[in-house]
Amino acid sequence: MTPSPPEYWVAKLTPNPGVNYTVTLWSTTAASVDDQSCHWDRERSALRAALREAAESGDTKRAQALAKKLNSLNDSFLGNLFSLRAHADAALTRESGLRAALRADNGVLGYALGSVAMQVLLQLPDERGVDQHIADWRNAAPEVLDGSECILQSCTPEEATQWQEKHRAKSNSILKLGEATPATPFRHITVLGREATDALLPGEGKVMLDATLGGGGHSELLLRCGASVWGIDRDPAACAAARKRLESYGNRMHVMAGCFADAKELLHREGIESVDGIIADLGISSPQVDTPQRGFSFLTEGPLDMRMDPNSPRCAADIVNNAPEEEIADILHRYGEERASRAIARRIVQQRTAAPITTTMRLAEIICSVLPRRGRQHPATRSFQALRIAVNDELGQLESLLKNGLSLLHKGGRFAVITFHSLEDRAVKRFFEHVSKKELDRPEWPMPRPNPDYTARVITRKPITPDAEELTANPRSRSAKLRVLEKI
Ligand SMILES: C[S@@+](CC[C@H](N)C(=O)[O-])C[C@H]1O[C@@H](n2cnc3c(N)ncnc32)[C@H](O)[C@@H]1O
Repeated sequence: MTPSPPEYWVAKLTPNPGVNYTVTLWSTTAASVDDQSCHWDRERSALRAALREAAESGDTKRAQALAKKLNSLNDSFLGNLFSLRAHADAALTRESGLRAALRADNGVLGYALGSVAMQVLLQLPDERGVDQHIADWRNAAPEVLDGSECILQSCTPEEATQWQEKHRAKSNSILKLGEATPATPFRHITVLGREATDALLPGEGKVMLDATLGGGGHSELLLRCGASVWGIDRDPAACAAARKRLESYGNRMHVMAGCFADAKELLHREGIESVDGIIADLGISSPQVDTPQRGFSFLTEGPLDMRMDPNSPRCAADIVNNAPEEEIADILHRYGEERASRAIARRIVQQRTAAPITTTMRLAEIICSVLPRRGRQHPATRSFQALRIAVNDELGQLESLLKNGLSLLHKGGRFAVITFHSLEDRAVKRFFEHVSKKELDRPEWPMPRPNPDYTARVITRKPITPDAEELTANPRSRSAKLRVLEKI
C-alpha cells in the first residue's frame, strides 16, 4: 500500500480543541504476521480443495502436481512457523509500548492496529497540536511506527462516531474506544468535606498530606484554613485539574503525581519528613466513573480499562481476557464478595474464546447472562468493583498508606480516612484498632504482651457518615464512612 502524498500531512497544526481527526500511520505490527499466516491457510485450503476435486475426477496427473505443490507449501510453512511466531511475539511486545502511549494520550478516542497501518481517532483536548501527539507515540514505539508518512484527515463529530461504529464491530482490532464528544470539565463533589477538615485540625503553618487529591476539594478546604498541602494522585487528569483549581494558593499547594503507597518517598524527595495531618478519600472520582473512555462504568460503552493511572501496565481487559478462570473467580469473590464468582468466571472464559472481551457493556452483558437482575443493584456492580480493585491493587495500596502514613505523622497529628465499601472500611478499622491497643493478647499466651505497634488513639469510635443534607445533595456519598486516628 502506498501512503498518500505528504500534502495531507499537517506537521504544524494550529491547535483547534474540540475538532476530531483520524490519523493513519504506517506500521509493522503483529497483525501483519497474523495476516501472513491467514494467507498461508487460505492458500492451503484452496490447494486441498483443488486436490480433492482432481482426485475425484480421476485426473491423476493434476492431482500429483497439486500434491507436490501442497507438500512444498507445507514444508515452507512449517519451516517458517517458528520464526513467524517469534516475530509475532516480538511485535506484540513492541506494540505494548505503543498501546500504553495511545491509552495514556487523553486525546485518543480510539485506535485500530492493522497489518500495515494504524488508525487513530484523535480529538485535541488541549493546546498540543496533532504533530505533538504523533511525536509522543513515535517516541514511545519507534520500532513500530516507522518513517514519516502519515495521512491526516479532519472529520466532523458525526464522522468520528461513524469511525467508532465501524471499528467497534471488529472487536479484535479496536483496542480502545471513547466518546466523540468534547472533553468534560473535572467535576467531583467533595464527600464529608467539613467533617474531615474539622477532624484534621488544620491551621496556619500546618503541613497536610492529601493522599487522594482528585479534584482538590479536600485540599482546598485545608488551604482555606491556612495550611500548606502536599497532594498526591495517580491519575494525571486529576493532578492537572487540581493544579489548575488551586493555583491561586501559590506555593502553599504542591501537586505530586504518584501512588499514595509511595507517599513517604514522594514527600522525602521534596524534603518533607513529617506532616501534621493526612486525608485519604479512597476510591474513584466522579470524572473517572463518568468518563466512558476510562472504562469504569457498566452503564456506558467504553474500553474495558479501569486504570486510575492510564500508564499502569495492566487494565481490566488484560485480566478478563488472559487470566486463568480460577484467578478471575478468586478476584470476583475476594474483592467483590460476589457469590456467583465461579459461574461468572466460567462464562467469561467461554465467551472470550469466541472473541476477546474488550468493552464494558459486553462484560456487563456476560455477567447479566449469568445473574438475572434482582432488586435495585445492577448484577455487574460487584464484579466491576472487584476488577477495579484488582486492576489498581487498591487494598495493597491502602495497607501501605496506613503503615507509611502513620509513620509520617508528628505527635498529635491526625489521620482521616474516608472509605466507600466494606473491604476498605474493614481494613482501616482493623488497622486503627491494632495501632491503638496498648497490649495484645492471644489464647495461647499466658498473659497479654505489650503491642510494639501501639502509637495512636482512635478519635472516632464509630465512623462518621454523611448527614441527610449531604445525602440529598450528593447521593454518591451514601456509602461513605470517615474514621480518624491521632498519633500519640
Ligand atoms: C474520591 S477521589 C478524591 C476526591 C477529592 N478528595 C476531592 O474532594 O476532590 C479519589 C482520588 O484518589 C485517587 N487515588 C485512588 N487511589 C490512589 C492511589 N493508590 N494513589 C494515588 N491516588 C489514588 C484517584 O485517582 C482519585 O482521583
